[in-house]
Amino acid sequence: MSSAKNQPIIILGIESSCDDTSAAVLADNCVLSNVIASQAVHQDYGGVVPELASRAHQKNIIPVVEAAIRRANIGKQDIDAVAFTLGPGLLGSLLVGTSFAKSFATALGIPCVDVNHLQAHVLSHFIVEPDTEHTAPSFPFLCLLVSGGNSQIVLVRDYFDMRIIGQTIDDAAGEAFDKCAKIMGLPYPGGPHIDRLAKEGNPTEFRFAMPDIAGFDYSFSGLKTSFLYRLRDEVAANPHFIEQNKADLCASLQKNIIDILLKKLIAASQQLGIDNIAVAGGVSANSGLRRELIAQGNSRGWQVFIPKPAFTTDNAAMIAVAGYYKYLRGYLCDISRPPFARTSI
Ligand code: KG4
Repeated sequence: MSSAKNQPIIILGIESSCDDTSAAVLADNCVLSNVIASQAVHQDYGGVVPELASRAHQKNIIPVVEAAIRRANIGKQDIDAVAFTLGPGLLGSLLVGTSFAKSFATALGIPCVDVNHLQAHVLSHFIVEPDTEHTAPSFPFLCLLVSGGNSQIVLVRDYFDMRIIGQTIDDAAGEAFDKCAKIMGLPYPGGPHIDRLAKEGNPTEFRFAMPDIAGFDYSFSGLKTSFLYRLRDEVAANPHFIEQNKADLCASLQKNIIDILLKKLIAASQQLGIDNIAVAGGVSANSGLRRELIAQGNSRGWQVFIPKPAFTTDNAAMIAVAGYYKYLRGYLCDISRPPFARTSI
């Protein structure tokens, strides 16, 4: 499918799978705006409360879409298609974004394109920013997809030919960050706090469990348990242990998580002979992971692709770019398709 206007294809992207309401406008794969409203309401609960998330999406969706259109400096009539996250995610949250996107597209008489949230994280590497040099990974590449709900190694042969070759059998890497942060009394989500504190700490001061799992699969629940038990025992002997060692605990935990992630990624790269290595998802914002990927890339001859921090956590620019490539291939959405909570790539 191509634009009859002989102008860039304008895609409005909408993301509402969890606790971020986001809208973005792209001209082809170039981002004109990317507006994200995060929901502070969950901080008091130490995790996302689904019912509160849906209500916040309802409140945010119209102002966020309006802001994205305004910042892109376009009018509604310029939009060629609406791309939206159909799943996976929280059903109540998805219902708000999908209902809005379908109604908006129907009112404008334009097609909509359903997007798999996990595919969109991988395709965030194809987002181009105006006046910025950009190199996208060439196919095939391996993408380490690490977020609050997923830890996967994805073999990407084409925009929509993706195969998961390894994934977590229990917790995700982001969950390990968040749960261990909670044990230390840090706010939710804990990943960015651990990242910040780790910069001041010694990463070899403490050592926690390393999983022994076959193939390219991951496991993080053993690490979380060993962290919990170690702190419980230390605090029993010294009630100030966490406060006195917070930076070293964060640095050591972060190193442990990165070691687990990279061990399997290196093995996958060696076994499949693929040196194009990308990372995506919220945890790819982690500065230690970024540094270590670049260091491994330099010593192993990898070409490493790391998205800008704004495109790592949930955002609608990645939904719009996935929608753009689907639109080009004519993969449009039947609006009767309901959202789904779980699926794989
Ligand atoms: O992809 P994402 O925005 O959404 C979901 O999975 O829903 O990922 C969120 C996850 C959280 O677990 C958060 O703690 C983690 O990404 N995260 C980080 C950092 N920034 C976000 N983890 C470690 N270091 C960071 N800088």
